[in-house]
Amino acid sequence: MAAITVDFQLCFIFILLGLFSLFYCGLPLSPPSLPVIGHLHFLLSVPCYKSFQKLSSKYGPLLHLRAFNSPIVLVSSGFMANEVLKTQDLNFATRQREVPIMERSLLFGSFSFVSAPYGDYWRFMKKLLVEKLLGSHSLEQTRLIRAKELKTFRAMLFDKAAEKETVDVGKEMMKLTNNSICRMIMGRKCSEENGEAEQVRGLVTKSLSLAKKFLIASIVGRFFKLVGISLFEKEIMEVSQMYDELLEKIMKEHEENPDKKENIDMMDVLLEVCADDNAEFQISRNQIKALFVELFIAGTDTSAQTTQWIMAELINHPEILKRLRKEIESVVGETRFIQETDLPSLPYLQAVMKEGLRLHPHTPILARNATEGCKIGGYYIGQNTTMIINAYAVLRDPDSWEYPGEFQPERFMTSPSKGKEDERAQLALNYIPFGSGRRGCLGKNLGYIFIGVAIGTMVQCFDWKINGDKVYMEETGEMALHMAHPLKCTLVTRINAASFESADL
Ligand code: HEM
Repeated sequence: MAAITVDFQLCFIFILLGLFSLFYCGLPLSPPSLPVIGHLHFLLSVPCYKSFQKLSSKYGPLLHLRAFNSPIVLVSSGFMANEVLKTQDLNFATRQREVPIMERSLLFGSFSFVSAPYGDYWRFMKKLLVEKLLGSHSLEQTRLIRAKELKTFRAMLFDKAAEKETVDVGKEMMKLTNNSICRMIMGRKCSEENGEAEQVRGLVTKSLSLAKKFLIASIVGRFFKLVGISLFEKEIMEVSQMYDELLEKIMKEHEENPDKKENIDMMDVLLEVCADDNAEFQISRNQIKALFVELFIAGTDTSAQTTQWIMAELINHPEILKRLRKEIESVVGETRFIQETDLPSLPYLQAVMKEGLRLHPHTPILARNATEGCKIGGYYIGQNTTMIINAYAVLRDPDSWEYPGEFQPERFMTSPSKGKEDERAQLALNYIPFGSGRRGCLGKNLGYIFIGVAIGTMVQCFDWKINGDKVYMEETGEMALHMAHPLKCTLVTRINAASFESADL
């Protein structure tokens, strides 16, 4: 009888403790909302990262929102973002909650790698991607491919300069990144002649414009499904269908001509795994296609748009451009073109790239899902809560960055000397243009290569002229930050290209 009494008392104490901790560790603050839809209008506003930024500067870095009855937590400081993306990243390693309407789609669907839950499939594919495509060893092996594409890009710029033709920087960069990625993953470029290349670039742009719709669908889709409306299904399926036709053709080419290539590419590797019944993980044709769709999207527009933003900043800041050029000339010399292997020796170029990505993060909003209930910053986050990390706000947070709206690459020229560890740790904490943790960007190094050699080439070889005094830096785009007025320039050659040795390798 005594034992039963003790157990009962213990239970009672635990219940009291539970209630107390729930009371003590409550939900984050919730700003005023609208009836029924809650805070959905903030998500629908254009651009939502700016409305969210205003909301967080008024109410705080961790806010509890809702879209209908779906809980969302908005994260807007480096410290809180780090908690979600790094410290507790296992719990937030799944990106979107299940979206039943996208099941059959190659884009954002159930075959996706990027929105795959953290588990065996994601781990298997990540390993493959690092080993065969994005790790430093594989990047070394594909350097020649990128060098050839860079040469074509450079020749195009010299031609345009000679003809006094305008260069659309974003568009030309998109060709460079797309051609390079396509050759790295499937052994050949998409053909310009039969319109295939233009089709892929168009599909990437269309996919990015659908990304916000997908995010909304992933948060409130289940609710709408209940009332019989399949949010955005038709639009997303149309794009998926177009990718499907293109990729089926490319897969067939690979299957029909297995021996005709010198090098094994990513497509060959994946088809082999797909056909192998004893493979460590069984992958399907649709999973291969979906991965390629995601590599087209993640690997091309990101670097192309970032390069465009950085070039615009350099044109608006001639003193920074001058310092950068001086660094390139002193490291690369004045007899050969800049190449990939120069990048580690160009700290100011690296600082320029970092600062460009800080001010103009290609992906301003990151989304994660809480697998289980947990605590962030002392507040309770319920299971299945959608976490929206406003990278744009974190990267411009006035509490973390001096003159947050100014383009100042010098802030990243921290010396490696002792005693500066705190400063560097602080910078890293607040620096999330590639996300962070397990689900952080896998192509960060490749991204820096694409941007570094392109900016390096453009600065080394040409002077840049625009209409007017300054480039207009207005932003557009929702889930991808684009320039509202694409950068168009005329170039003046500033080196004697004929005397430069051809040192691409
Ligand atoms: C300037 C260039 C780039 C930027 C700014 C960028 C940015 C990002 C961001 C913000 C994420 C989400 C991270 C998170 O949720 O924590 C991401 C994920 C990803 N990126 Fe990049 N990226 C770039 C280049 C690339 C390139 C070149 C590739 C490969 C070809 C690539 C492949 C990926 C992949 C596969 C993921 C998903 C990782 C996963 O879910 O596990 N990215 N990127």
